[in-house]
Amino acid sequence: MITLGEGNTPLLPAPRLSERFGVELWLKCEGANPTGSFKDRGMVLAVSRALDRGATGVVCASTGNTAASTAAYAARAGLPAVVVTPRGLVARGKIAQARAVGAEIRELDGTFEDAHREARRLADEEGYVNVNSINPDRIEGQSSAAREIVDQLGGSPDVLALPYGGGGNTVAYAVGFGERLPRFLLGEAAHRGNTFASAIRIVEPVHRAAVEEVLARSGGTVVTLDEQQLEDAWRLVAREEGLFCEPASAAGVAAVAAAGASGRVVCVLTGHGLKDPDATERLAA
Ligand code: F0G
Repeated sequence: MITLGEGNTPLLPAPRLSERFGVELWLKCEGANPTGSFKDRGMVLAVSRALDRGATGVVCASTGNTAASTAAYAARAGLPAVVVTPRGLVARGKIAQARAVGAEIRELDGTFEDAHREARRLADEEGYVNVNSINPDRIEGQSSAAREIVDQLGGSPDVLALPYGGGGNTVAYAVGFGERLPRFLLGEAAHRGNTFASAIRIVEPVHRAAVEEVLARSGGTVVTLDEQQLEDAWRLVAREEGLFCEPASAAGVAAVAAAGASGRVVCVLTGHGLKDPDATERLAA
């Protein structure tokens, strides 16, 4: 098993946001993972198992964070990595990370969905293992975050709020919580195709059916957020709690702000602010 020291991220109380929203709010800081996002929890397992199975390489499509994570764990495992990204749509820090550890970056003119198709084709044709979240090892690995939260709080929260891109993380949390699900509040961008929150620039969530099942089981809901709501939440997290996350990461907080919640609420901050200096400099101006 290869590792870069993923998991065991801080769960911090958020006193000012708690007061503002009338809840007991906690922030799960997934930007504290080795490559700066929650993706590392699943990638460690997916790449370890790919290595065990004798894979000749790993491949993924990505809006950036999966690419950075795939690249790092592949380097650690001594495997080549190919990451397919939509050209011009990925935040600077994430490309820099993937390049630094030696991944091959294939930019294509198109959307995340086009990149996803290309990554699956490369996996089929070149014998590489696809490490997108359609790989069940990714979901299994990411489910550790839910169990950590239960340990850290001494029980399940009433509400779990997180960003909704392709839905893999939602499914992973549901697996991790098991029988007793908190109410899931999923923040998605109204403008999925071109939101400034580039990590969640995904038009067709690959896990949509499973996400709908989780929402039905948990009494949860999707909250659709415009760009201003996403920006405002990012600024609140930074200014009121001193935490610097990337724009997409504040979508769970934005969902709580827009839809309301009650009781003990955990918002997952999925990635670090240093990932996307261009967006965060603009927001901070
Ligand atoms: N937050 C961040 C920072 C992300 O990078 C992603 C997804 C999400 C939230 C949404 O998670 O897709 O499981 O619902 N990023 C993927 C990537 C698509 O390629 O890095 P989801």
